[in-house]
Amino acid sequence: MLLAVSSLRCSHVFVSLVVAAHLLLASRPPAAAQLADQATMAALQRELAVAGWDSDSSSYCGWRGVTCGVGGADRPVEALELPHRNLQGNISLVSQLRSLKRLDLSGNSFRGPIPPSLGSLDALQFLDLSLNRFEGRIPSSLGGLKDLRSLNLSNNVLLGEVPDELRNLARLQELQISGNKLSGRIPGWVGGLTDLRVFSAYENSLVGVIPRNLGSISQLKVLNLHSNQLEGGIPDGIFLSGNLEVLVLTLNRLNGSLPASIGNCQGLSNFRIGNNELVGSIPFSIGNISSLTYFEADNNRLSGEIPPEFAQCSNLTLLNLAYNGFTGTVPDKLGQLKSLQEFIVSGNSLGGEFPRSMLRCRNLSKLDLSYNRFNGSLPEDLCNMSRLQFLLLDHNSISREIPRGIGNCNRLLELQLGSNDLSGVIPPEIGKIKNLQIALNLSFNRLWGQVPRELGKLDKLVELDVSNNQLSGCIPPDLKGMLSLIEVNFSNNQLRGQIPIFGPFQKSSRSSFLGNEGLCGDPLTSDCGTLFGSDYDSDHHKVSYKIILAVVGSGLTVFTMVSVVVGFFMLREKQEMDAKAAKVAGDVVVPRPQIAAGNVFIESLKQAIDFESVVKATMEDASKISSGTFSTVYKAVMPSGLIVSVRRLKSVDKTVTHHQNKMIRELERLGNICHANLMRPIGYVIYEDVALLLHHHMPNGTLAELLHGMVHVEHEPDWPRRLSIAIGVAEGLAFLHNIAIIHLDVSSSNIFLDSHFNPLIEEIEISKLLDPSKGTASISAVAGSFGYIPPEYAYTMQVTVSGNVYSFGVVLLEILTSKLPVDEVFGEGMDLVKWVHNASERGETPEQIMDARLSTFSFAWRKQMLGVLKVAMLCTDKTPAKRPKMKKVVEMLLESKDNN
Ligand SMILES: *[C@@H]1O[C@H](CO)[C@@H](O)[C@H](O)[C@H]1NC(C)=O
Ligand SMILES: *[C@@H]1O[C@H](CO)[C@@H](O)[C@H](O)[C@H]1NC(C)=O
Ligand SMILES: *[C@@H]1O[C@H](CO)[C@@H](O)[C@H](O)[C@H]1NC(C)=O
Ligand SMILES: *[C@@H]1O[C@H](CO)[C@@H](O)[C@H](O)[C@H]1NC(C)=O
Ligand SMILES: *[C@@H]1O[C@H](CO)[C@@H](O)[C@H](O)[C@H]1NC(C)=O
Ligand SMILES: *[C@@H]1O[C@H](CO)[C@@H](O)[C@H](O)[C@H]1NC(C)=O
Ligand SMILES: *[C@@H]1O[C@H](CO)[C@@H](O)[C@H](O)[C@H]1NC(C)=O
Ligand SMILES: *[C@@H]1O[C@H](CO)[C@@H](O)[C@H](O)[C@H]1NC(C)=O
Repeated sequence: MLLAVSSLRCSHVFVSLVVAAHLLLASRPPAAAQLADQATMAALQRELAVAGWDSDSSSYCGWRGVTCGVGGADRPVEALELPHRNLQGNISLVSQLRSLKRLDLSGNSFRGPIPPSLGSLDALQFLDLSLNRFEGRIPSSLGGLKDLRSLNLSNNVLLGEVPDELRNLARLQELQISGNKLSGRIPGWVGGLTDLRVFSAYENSLVGVIPRNLGSISQLKVLNLHSNQLEGGIPDGIFLSGNLEVLVLTLNRLNGSLPASIGNCQGLSNFRIGNNELVGSIPFSIGNISSLTYFEADNNRLSGEIPPEFAQCSNLTLLNLAYNGFTGTVPDKLGQLKSLQEFIVSGNSLGGEFPRSMLRCRNLSKLDLSYNRFNGSLPEDLCNMSRLQFLLLDHNSISREIPRGIGNCNRLLELQLGSNDLSGVIPPEIGKIKNLQIALNLSFNRLWGQVPRELGKLDKLVELDVSNNQLSGCIPPDLKGMLSLIEVNFSNNQLRGQIPIFGPFQKSSRSSFLGNEGLCGDPLTSDCGTLFGSDYDSDHHKVSYKIILAVVGSGLTVFTMVSVVVGFFMLREKQEMDAKAAKVAGDVVVPRPQIAAGNVFIESLKQAIDFESVVKATMEDASKISSGTFSTVYKAVMPSGLIVSVRRLKSVDKTVTHHQNKMIRELERLGNICHANLMRPIGYVIYEDVALLLHHHMPNGTLAELLHGMVHVEHEPDWPRRLSIAIGVAEGLAFLHNIAIIHLDVSSSNIFLDSHFNPLIEEIEISKLLDPSKGTASISAVAGSFGYIPPEYAYTMQVTVSGNVYSFGVVLLEILTSKLPVDEVFGEGMDLVKWVHNASERGETPEQIMDARLSTFSFAWRKQMLGVLKVAMLCTDKTPAKRPKMKKVVEMLLESKDNN
């Protein structure tokens, strides 16, 4: 038995409403208002063609998304809620629904001006037109909505100034106009909206100052104005009421200093003012903000000392003061900050001894003191604190030896000690930091002695720089164990002997070895003579190096990931082999797994799903469908005949066991995320350290299978189907980004196709479960699939919104070319993205890139494909900032579709 997936999704919520409405309708005679609204609804149905609204307009109160008043004999429409229904057309008719209190048309494809007639809906309390393509000015008539509590016009293409008439919206509690092209000043009357709790106007072109009187809004909790061109100071008034919880002013031109009144806001948890021109010192009253969690003030002109009062903010998780003019030392007291995860003070004039006290912050994962004046030595017990992932101490005056205790920093991904005053030998213990992968940089110090052979154990390391020291002896052949190496620099030391024959060495430029008088061999021109015999390494190493290079290609960047992902695969394989072994061994007595928890979110499926059959299916290799980065998918046939797909999550470090309750809460919450292009779980089962997520079975498999013919070959060239899949995926991602969820693994294998080839993005729940920081954009989990990982990831180790856009661009290229993201056919060091971007250099036309079966089918198809190719090129731009937002991508794809 297969399920009609699309009709089931989202709909169960409405069932009770529908039933109630039908009962009422049957028992009442028609009245004038009903007839009026009935006629309007019938016209609206013709105009918008809402899927699921049946042709009998007399039952309009039962239509999905429609709520009628139940009070009198009239059956007026009081709420019209049609978010994310893929609608377009003229919505002017809606203004004839005179009793409307709630109107939600967000996340559709409406375009053109916002109809001014909406301003005549006297009863309207909630208006959400966000995430459409409404353009032109905000109609001044909206000022007539006297009863409006919430107005959301964000993420459209609205222009011009905010009309003064909106000052009449005296009861407004939430005003969202972010993500448009609004210009002019923030009107002073906003300060007169005394009930306002949320005001967000970020990502516009607003100029002028932040009105002082915003401070008179005593209820204001959220003020988000980032990415505008605001100037002047932060008015101290906004802190006076003390109710502010979130203040985001990043990326403006604000000057002036931080008012001391900030200490009044005891509930302020999120404070971000980075990338402005603020001056002065941080007031001591900062310590009064007991809820402070994120404090981000980088790239300003702040000065003075770091106030020790920060130590009183016991929830502080992120403190970023980078690139300012702070002086003095790091206060000892900050060591009390038990929740601190990132302490970033690079690019200031801080000094004194290395701040040992910070080592007491047991949760610290990033310590960035680079580009300051720290001196003294590094403590031996540097890494009692084992959570540290980034230790960035370069460009200071740290002296003495690198402590042997460095070997205890076993979680380090990056170690930067360059440009200091370090002496002594490189401790062999560094070889114990097996996770080290982004960089090990010891350059520009006074280190001497041999390069320790133990460094050869760092098989994930991408960049090694020991240049400009006084190192002597040979480069140990053991370094050939550094299988992930791409960039090396041994220059300006006293090394001698032959450079070992090892791909990464010979592929480096000469400058990586220059300045060592005794060094010889390739890539240096100085010949070692025939003294040394050929020292080619065992084929094994060469081959694996080549494979990695062929598979990936985006240079240094992706390499980090390769090793990590390879690590993941190996781990998985080992797990699977272990599981197999256990199964063989256990053939005599198969222990029944103890199911710890389970739930089915959809009432009508509760009877049909049997948890034991679900678990059993994941133990049979034959039912395996696919493997993703974080999970394996199985097909499970229930005793009831129902087929479900079961996703088995990889548990790292016993996450499932340790965070079971949190995970369950998250899963139940995600069961409610509702979008036509997102696959949401229908239930879950947890046993031992395993979490299984249940989904509807998708009969048409994944996009990867459709494009690359792994299961069924696509016989007919079908560009329109591919294009509509691309648009659906883009819409799903745009929706996720809008609710601040970043996908960790966008790839064509994670896009499933329902019986109508409607695409559904998978693994969103996993993305969320793996995000410990909940939307702070500071995810440092390991993420992504081969060929989809954005180049900047290796440096930032952060999955970002623009990283998602890159991965989506790769999916678009797959759709256009029918080629795999990584394939040997592109040649060594190439992947699909590079191959496409280099096409013009090779003198190839778009025709030679795009799948000819499609592009030669008709002129219309070709034209659309060229449009989509343009979008794909933008999405895969090397520079994250140049990539469009997903919302923009949706627009551009729709434009290409209209283009025929
Ligand atoms: C929508 O319909 C109204 C009235 O029928 C008309 O005045 C208006 O111009 C239409 N708007 C658009 C964008 O077509
Ligand atoms: C628009 O804003 C309102 C009020 O802040 C909010 O409830 C609603 O969820 C927002 N809409 C979307 C699509 O985010
Ligand atoms: C802020 O900038 C304005 C001009 O944009 C200038 O007049 C004012 O003096 C500046 N204030 C401070 C404190 O630098
Ligand atoms: C706020 O901080 C200042 C400076 O540290 C202090 O003098 C004052 O007592 C604090 N106020 C409250 C209410 O805690
Ligand atoms: C710190 O965070 C916890 C958990 O989010 C919260 O319960 C607590 O109230 C916060 N403490 C303060 C002082 O705000
Ligand atoms: C580290 O943070 C977690 C929450 O993320 C908290 O539960 C734990 O207590 C913190 N560790 C320490 C040593 O404070
Ligand atoms: C470190 O710098 C401070 C001033 O910043 C100075 O007083 C101290 O003597 C220096 N210590 C060493 C060991 O150089
Ligand atoms: C590190 O551990 C040692 C012994 O376990 C202890 O004596 C020392 O105080 C610890 N250092 C820090 C910074 O916690």
